[in-house]
Amino acid sequence: MIESSEPEIPLLGGDVTEGLVRVGETVRRPMGRNAAYVHALLEHLEAVGFDGAPRYLGVDAAGRETLTYVHGDVAVRPYPDWIADEARLASVGRLLRRYDDATVGFTPPPGVGYERPTHPAGLPPEPELETEVIGHVDITPENLVFRDGAAYALIDFDLLRPAARVDELYNAMLYWAPLNEPDDVDPGLRGLDAPRRCRILADAYGMTEADRLRLVEVAVLRTRRTWHLMRHRAEVDGGGWRRMWDEGVGEIITRREQWLERHGPAIEAALTAA
Ligand SMILES: Nc1ncnc2c1ncn2[C@@H]1O[C@H](COP(=O)(O)OP(=O)(O)O)[C@@H](O)[C@H]1O
Ligand SMILES: [Mg+2]
Repeated sequence: MIESSEPEIPLLGGDVTEGLVRVGETVRRPMGRNAAYVHALLEHLEAVGFDGAPRYLGVDAAGRETLTYVHGDVAVRPYPDWIADEARLASVGRLLRRYDDATVGFTPPPGVGYERPTHPAGLPPEPELETEVIGHVDITPENLVFRDGAAYALIDFDLLRPAARVDELYNAMLYWAPLNEPDDVDPGLRGLDAPRRCRILADAYGMTEADRLRLVEVAVLRTRRTWHLMRHRAEVDGGGWRRMWDEGVGEIITRREQWLERHGPAIEAALTAA
């Protein structure tokens, strides 16, 4: 059992998790739906020598998961100037590739499975993709710790799921290109050359040709589905999900789909240009 008499310092910046605190060199979080699965994955990452994630330390006396606090810089909104830096962008792609590769071969312990969240009826179809990795698929600036100007660690594994690499890359591009109407993004990421930034991420990751050719299609299908899933989460889970929905995330997602329809050809051209 993990005990500590050190003060609890609230950690701000995330959207969803309430009650997140830092205690000394640790972070305490309420446990999410797939906590046992996430803990097993973090232990796997440690066992294979991947250092770009917090270590799982156990459950504390209050029943919260305990992780190591990762020192470094995390962008909070409004984002700092460095958020648009292309060298940092490439470092995100490289870290993501190392992470995804490290998840290959992960076998959860007996009795620990990944539980899919409940899905509403009438959901638009998912792209048909094979499972290749345990995707982090929440690669927001707030979920990355930078050190010395480069992406150092991923945090916040709450949304992880068995996924295809193209899903992971779509998610990173969504937040880092970014793939949104400029008015809908933080000023620090506004007015950038999104297709060029997709290419930088793709090259840094080592995206396959086949994935480059299907990225836009996957992005559109995922975007349609996300609108329904976000509304469902707002209704079922409430909390931060409800807040995001009330603040208009649904309209942002609708504008994203239209933006993708307009800019898809340029993104595909940038991804596949010789
Ligand atoms: N292990 C950690 N090391 C360092 N900072 C952390 C860690 N976990 C969380 N944080 C900080 O707290 C913020 C919110 O945590 P996060 O786990 O992303 O929660 P949320 O689900 O609300 O997004 C992060 O953006 C980061 O600044
Ligand atoms: Mg987060």
